[in-house]
Amino acid sequence: MSEPLQSVLRLDHVTKSFGPVTVIDDVSVDVVPGRVRVLLGENGAGKSTLIKMMSGIYHPDSGSVIIDGHPAELPDVKAAEVQGIAVIHQELNLVPQLSVAENIMLGRTPSRGGLVQWRPLRRRAEAALERIGLNVSPEKLVGELSSAHQQLVEIARALSTDARVLILDEPTAALTRRESRQLFSVMDDLKARGVAMVFISHHLDEIPRVGDDVTVLRDGVAVGEVPADTPEPELVRLMVGRDIEDQFPRHRSEPGEVLLEVEGLTRRGDFDNISFEVRAGEVLGLSGLVGAGRSEVVRAIFGADPYDSGTVRVRGEKLPRGSVGAAISRGVGQVPEERKSQGLVLAGSVADNIGYATLRSTSRAGLVDRRGQRQRAAEVAEKLHIRMAGLDQAVGDLSGGNQQKAVLGRWVLAGSSVLLLDEPTRGVDVGAKVEIYQLINRVTDSGGAVVMVSSELPEVLGMSDRIAVMANGRLTGIVEADSATEDSVMTLAVKSLD
Ligand SMILES: Nc1ncnc2c1ncn2[C@@H]1O[C@H](COP(=O)(O)OP(=O)(O)OP(=O)(O)O)[C@@H](O)[C@H]1O
Ligand SMILES: [Mg+2]
Repeated sequence: MSEPLQSVLRLDHVTKSFGPVTVIDDVSVDVVPGRVRVLLGENGAGKSTLIKMMSGIYHPDSGSVIIDGHPAELPDVKAAEVQGIAVIHQELNLVPQLSVAENIMLGRTPSRGGLVQWRPLRRRAEAALERIGLNVSPEKLVGELSSAHQQLVEIARALSTDARVLILDEPTAALTRRESRQLFSVMDDLKARGVAMVFISHHLDEIPRVGDDVTVLRDGVAVGEVPADTPEPELVRLMVGRDIEDQFPRHRSEPGEVLLEVEGLTRRGDFDNISFEVRAGEVLGLSGLVGAGRSEVVRAIFGADPYDSGTVRVRGEKLPRGSVGAAISRGVGQVPEERKSQGLVLAGSVADNIGYATLRSTSRAGLVDRRGQRQRAAEVAEKLHIRMAGLDQAVGDLSGGNQQKAVLGRWVLAGSSVLLLDEPTRGVDVGAKVEIYQLINRVTDSGGAVVMVSSELPEVLGMSDRIAVMANGRLTGIVEADSATEDSVMTLAVKSLD
């Protein structure tokens, strides 16, 4: 038997409440050099809250933080950094107006005599980018990068601090499989060098790949500690307390009339001559690699961004270009990729955020029917199992996955007949995913049409009726989901049309 490894960081019997709600109840977790501790649990189980206590953001109400075997205080983030604890948070923390290099070196910018030294700044940033295999210019503004690339910059920043504890809160949620694999090999490397890590992900297949030990949380309580190679169904059972029979419960039905018709949609440099139809009762998956132009197309259809030429028709009627208001009033709804910047009013309550899209339909004689709206918001929150203290809680305080459910809930409540979903289950736990799929079924069962952008191939194959595939801004094919395979979709996704 080898010596038990000493943990570098331990949360010892910690408890944390917000107001009357206890979100972490007497939990202990050890983080050991050269090992990856996985935190597993449903949306709102308390994973992010735990890591915030490891990094000086939240402080336990009782229990203690132990570093190198000694009780320690982490009054703030700086104190955690001094201890060598680096965190990649679930929501990105980059400054969009600064360059990639400045973001990577934020707070550690090399300077002499009060002047920033650009050359060493660039060099260190380049080294950090190279390490994770990210090929972007260090001078580029972060705000101009895709969300996947922003996530990679965030990771590069954490890695460049030479941390001895690295905490990764859903780092792969916005990454493609290839980018995730790259991250995992960096993690292997850090492991070999004795870095202790904490890893959170809703992709259960990643757990045996990178993890060693798993702590399962349910409603703020640690319900189990198991090895990372525990079979998936067992992990699911521990985490949600039941089996999940059918991960993709798609109801397929005979499609009806054409609800959404996109013809020759073009925006120079972004997408070119995109045409497709979606019928009542149908889910059209929109697949492709990150950067293929899928989100851009969907945003243009919704009116959130302009386009140069082409037409969008809803029920045969032309939608004016660039008018979200017109789209909404014709029953089009959109769940954006970036819920934080595009989807939610974070300071607003859950009730207001869910109710927001329905202001029109719930007003009576020009007056907003607040009571009715609240009632319906409550129903949606209940159906989606949105975990919250109450309808008046600020949406910004919900866990990441629950925020996602709130954005979706809004459009379901609005009774959208054409729903545009961009990565609808990103950051959503396995149980809640099924609930979101049921909602998609509800929309199509009641005669709606859905366009679903998704980078998860099993989800696209499992939930679509047809799959449109994009590569480099163009449509490379539309296939029936029944006969498609991951390989056939990928082949179209990497196809070049030149
Ligand atoms: N500042 C806060 N004020 C009030 N409640 C909060 C606050 N921060 C977190 N909570 C609540 O604590 C609970 C746990 O949230 P946490 O973010 O830790 O969940 P999570 O396990 O990370 O979920 P997800 O998988 O969705 O990211 C949630 O119910 C959340 O609403
Ligand atoms: Mg979280």
